[in-house]
Amino acid sequence: MLKIAVFVSGGGTNLQSLIDACSDGSVDARIEAAISNNSGAYGLKRASKVGIATYHLSSVVFADKGDYLDALIKVLADHKIDLIVLAGYMKLLPSEVVSEYYGRIINIHPALLPKYGGKGMYGMNVHRAVLKAGDRYSGATVHMVDEKYDHGSILIQRQVRVEPDDSPETLAARVLKIEHEILPRAVSLFVK
Ligand code: GAR
Repeated sequence: MLKIAVFVSGGGTNLQSLIDACSDGSVDARIEAAISNNSGAYGLKRASKVGIATYHLSSVVFADKGDYLDALIKVLADHKIDLIVLAGYMKLLPSEVVSEYYGRIINIHPALLPKYGGKGMYGMNVHRAVLKAGDRYSGATVHMVDEKYDHGSILIQRQVRVEPDDSPETLAARVLKIEHEILPRAVSLFVK
């Protein structure tokens, strides 16, 4: 069975959607590890609750960048990871990991890429920018990962309406709902 490592930075609702999809059989894969740059990420708790191995790995906690990279690569190798899913991960993966797993890393982004991608465009910043621009539609994108932020080819994209009275929070909630549909769908397509 295909083995997945999921990277999270915060709440981990996208990770939860994958945990649920793997357990109800709609995704034929197993989540082997959850990795976060943030020791307090609730996503790590969601993972450990269902017995998934969790790791707090960050370039900040390792004094030496090489040690960080070695630790990351060891976790992925020890678990024989086939696919890396960035599910609300706010950091750039080291380029060594991107080249090692090229074509086997996907990311979910809360906007209609290529709009509202790139450095600094994550989480609520994206929704604020969409509202500020007055766009009538936003959405979510699952794409392959390369060395640049939010750049690789698009696998699935779905749009939602921006309502006139939206706040960044209400828009984020509407987008997050479709993220929970398209991320498991993209992983399922990858598995097939
Ligand atoms: C999601 O909206 C995800 O698309 C976004 O962070 C949120 C994480 O939510 N990711 C990015 O902005 C990455 N560029 P979650 O922790 O509940 O899955």
